[in-house]
Amino acid sequence: MQQRHLGNRTVSAIGLGGMPMSIEGRPDEERSIATIHAALDAGVTLIDTADSYHRDANEVGHNESLIATALRAYGGDTSEVLVATKGGHLRPGDGSWTKDGRPEYLKSAAKASAQRLGVDAIGLYQFHRPDPNVPYADSVGAIAELLDEGVIQMAGISNADVGQIDQAQEILGGRLVSVQNQFSPAFRSSLGELEHCAGLGIAFLPWSPLGGISNAAELATRHAAFQRVADAHGVSVYQVTLAWMLALAPVVIPIPGASRPTSIQDSAAAADLELTADEVASLSEA
Ligand SMILES: NC(=O)c1ccc[n+]([C@@H]2O[C@H](COP(=O)([O-])OP(=O)(O)OC[C@H]3O[C@@H](n4cnc5c(N)ncnc54)[C@H](OP(=O)(O)O)[C@@H]3O)[C@@H](O)[C@H]2O)c1
Repeated sequence: MQQRHLGNRTVSAIGLGGMPMSIEGRPDEERSIATIHAALDAGVTLIDTADSYHRDANEVGHNESLIATALRAYGGDTSEVLVATKGGHLRPGDGSWTKDGRPEYLKSAAKASAQRLGVDAIGLYQFHRPDPNVPYADSVGAIAELLDEGVIQMAGISNADVGQIDQAQEILGGRLVSVQNQFSPAFRSSLGELEHCAGLGIAFLPWSPLGGISNAAELATRHAAFQRVADAHGVSVYQVTLAWMLALAPVVIPIPGASRPTSIQDSAAAADLELTADEVASLSEA
């Protein structure tokens, strides 16, 4: 599997997004663990999660606990696996997502995440989403303190614009290693942040790269140009979409979600799919 840099770590060019295994519509635990194990078998060494990936109010951190369980149960070596979690979103249990970017909240949430993941220090901790009720500098300042205190090993942000990326980089004293924003064939408005990250050498993790849980099945019909390239290579439209992103910049590391082993097995193969420069250019314009 092709490798990419994320801070001081090297990870698989395709990660696994954990959200579909913990929110509404999730499968049973057995299938989720089989999915995580299939990712590991395929060489995936980046798993994205968040404390808010749960369904009911009383099960905060469902996805973090699930990943920790799957890693413990895996027969092979997991020492190179980077589990990246996030804090700053909450799910009250009615299907909604709320925000809390207060420094004291983020600091206690990170410690709870570390406990659920069963680690002394979280490999990568990402501030999930700016909270309009809290100055961004205060929230990111808490992430800097978590780094200084050794609660987290690396820091990232999510759902950030170019100005916030620069602000976070300054507050973190140059220690910002990743930005996680929505990016897919249907949602390209974060191309500016992707290019900004490429210029800074910061990893860019496209979230919902296949259009999101409820839209992924429509990828081929909504984006015919991607399906045409897929037909030419004899691969799935999902692989072409992920390979196109990888070709945009060496900092790009997509994190496709999965709740079935076959989904992540197929997506992981995108790391080794080579598109021609003409194909990449035509998909960028499609
Ligand atoms: N930072 C943020 O604010 C934020 C927001 C949303 C998501 N995220 C992260 O980004 C990750 C990815 O986003 P997402 O899960 O929302 O959407 P996504 O990756 O665009 O789509 C996920 C869906 O695509 C299907 N799929 C994946 N690979 C496939 C393949 N090769 N063939 C066929 N179907 C395939 C999966 O189906 P099956 O379920 O049937 O396997 C899954 O339900 C999340 O899991 C989460 O970790 C972050």
